[in-house]
Amino acid sequence: MLRLLLSGRNNGRRPDKDRSYCPHDDIYNRLWSILGGPDCARGVRSVEVRLRVLVACEFSGIVRDAFIARGHDAMSCDLLPPESPGPHYTGSVFDILNDGWDMMIAHPPCTHLACSGAAWFEKKKKNGKQQNGIDFFMKLAEASINKICVENPVGIMSSLWRTPDQIIQPYYFGDEYQKTTCLWLKNLLKLKHIKVDDLFDKATHVNKGEMIKYASGKVMPKWYAESRGNGHLRSRTFQGIAKAMAEQWG
Ligand SMILES: C[S@@+](CC[C@H](N)C(=O)[O-])C[C@H]1O[C@@H](n2cnc3c(N)ncnc32)[C@H](O)[C@@H]1O
Repeated sequence: MLRLLLSGRNNGRRPDKDRSYCPHDDIYNRLWSILGGPDCARGVRSVEVRLRVLVACEFSGIVRDAFIARGHDAMSCDLLPPESPGPHYTGSVFDILNDGWDMMIAHPPCTHLACSGAAWFEKKKKNGKQQNGIDFFMKLAEASINKICVENPVGIMSSLWRTPDQIIQPYYFGDEYQKTTCLWLKNLLKLKHIKVDDLFDKATHVNKGEMIKYASGKVMPKWYAESRGNGHLRSRTFQGIAKAMAEQWG
């Protein structure tokens, strides 16, 4: 009976033609998942709208491959060649920014923006490097693309531009690591993550990962301390976050 009632509600999709839409917090959707409803509610729906997704400033291919695995037409772009095979443009993102993308996930360089580099801010202001970093970030954030996520660590853009829409951690999405990550979103919902099992969902949070404490008293995630000098390791997107982006936004 309940199932019959629910079937009158457009199968969890918006009344417009966006058939891939899946409102995560929708009570209706949750009821469907209990009743063994449509694939949408179980998170295994097939892709009916193939999105053109640009993953800007990504050499790893991690977010790109998560979207491709969901059936989307995704391409990474970086000045560096790709670490893993797949659609990739080696060159400046600004060469291809206006090529008709439906969505962009952007990871602009944070070297001159992140709070972790605050000790060098004065120098970077004087030599113009910080302004270049700000301009780069804003060109991506204000690109003419319908759905945008700009990702960066905690830094000056929160006060210079606006506070991020969401702050996440890798351990929210199954990876036992800490790295405070800000997301600025345009036409995208916040990523859903579950702290503890509840009636409807399994927890997505895992342990935070090991921390180390220096003699100075400073505390830091162990993985981060150990990857000192390895910028690539530090900047690679975590698999769980990439998967959540593709599952929830794709
Ligand atoms: C913070 S890293 C992001 C890495 C990403 N999370 C990944 O998993 O590959 C920033 C990247 O921006 C790239 N980059 C810098 N300027 C660029 C440009 N004009 N066009 C495209 N990529 C650029 C750098 O080469 C660097 O790999």
